Amino acid sequence: MTDPTPNGESSASGAKAAETRPRAERGSPAGGTNTAAVDAAHVDKVFATSSGEVHALSDVSLTVAPGEFVSLIGPSGCGKSTLMRLIADLDSPSTGELSVFGKTPDRARRDQDYGIAFQKAGLLPWRTVADNVGLPLQLHKAPASQRKARVAELLEMVGLSDFSGHYPDQLSGGMQQRVAIARALAEKPRMLLMDEPFGALDEMTRERMQTELLRICAETGAAVVFVTHSIPEAVYLSDRVVVMSPRPGRIAEVIDMELADSSQRSDALREDSSYFDMITAVRESLHGGSSASRGVETR
Ligand SMILES: Nc1ncnc2c1ncn2[C@@H]1O[C@H](COP(=O)(O)OP(=O)(O)O)[C@@H](O)[C@H]1O
Ligand SMILES: [Mg+2]
Repeated sequence: MTDPTPNGESSASGAKAAETRPRAERGSPAGGTNTAAVDAAHVDKVFATSSGEVHALSDVSLTVAPGEFVSLIGPSGCGKSTLMRLIADLDSPSTGELSVFGKTPDRARRDQDYGIAFQKAGLLPWRTVADNVGLPLQLHKAPASQRKARVAELLEMVGLSDFSGHYPDQLSGGMQQRVAIARALAEKPRMLLMDEPFGALDEMTRERMQTELLRICAETGAAVVFVTHSIPEAVYLSDRVVVMSPRPGRIAEVIDMELADSSQRSDALREDSSYFDMITAVRESLHGGSSASRGVETR
């Protein structure tokens, strides 16, 4: 790929060549421990239903490095949420091995190694916004003063400082989702599991949240596994994009995003030719699969 700008230094793609490895690999000291955030080996998931077996995932092998941002993209029903649920220990593989930070998913869940933000905000309607965000801290008995400061910081981060005393049903869907994201970040987890978290947001809020999420990840070093239907969203956010194909869900291709380091990305990238090149690469991979790529947004 040629650099499109006269001055490569100042372009969003300028630093890309040597910067496509996962951030964590780049940052890790020689000989330092680098246990994968997620390590899935030959994972299969079969659901038994009244109308027979549903083979949701087949031979899925995937490693996510600490601090790495990996998106899963693919048509509806290809097993993205199923894979997330296995990582989050909400279900278990039929066969194959799955570890999270070198532990069983169950152990990682009990150790609070990750925060979760799924499509439905899942807020407690009887608690205020501030009390929803502070819930994980309260459960872990963080001192009240510390909790208050952290909740204020999180609400500021998601642009909801003025709504701390509101109840969830007084907020729009998008605002509720931002509360859920703030809650997922409350304990500065080593990993975030996000299943279409921005699906309900308007386009402008969505772009702001994407940039915000990258900033938060750069700040906290958290790994992210992110499910989306949006190709541009996957490209903008990720170090690598995992393209899945349906029936049974398999990994069709894993594409390295040859872009600026994800901690350096800003809105300028959305107008950079390297960004469009990566969108094309992901789109072609999805369409290469078959007509099965229906249901994936290209906007
Ligand atoms: N608990 C379940 N019982 C039976 N089938 C399920 C269950 N969960 C998911 N499936 C099926 O597994 C497949 C993958 O679903 P899912 O992971 O939700 O896909 P995606 O998130 O990619 O849209 C679908 O065919 C779905 O109907
Ligand atoms: Mg899903």
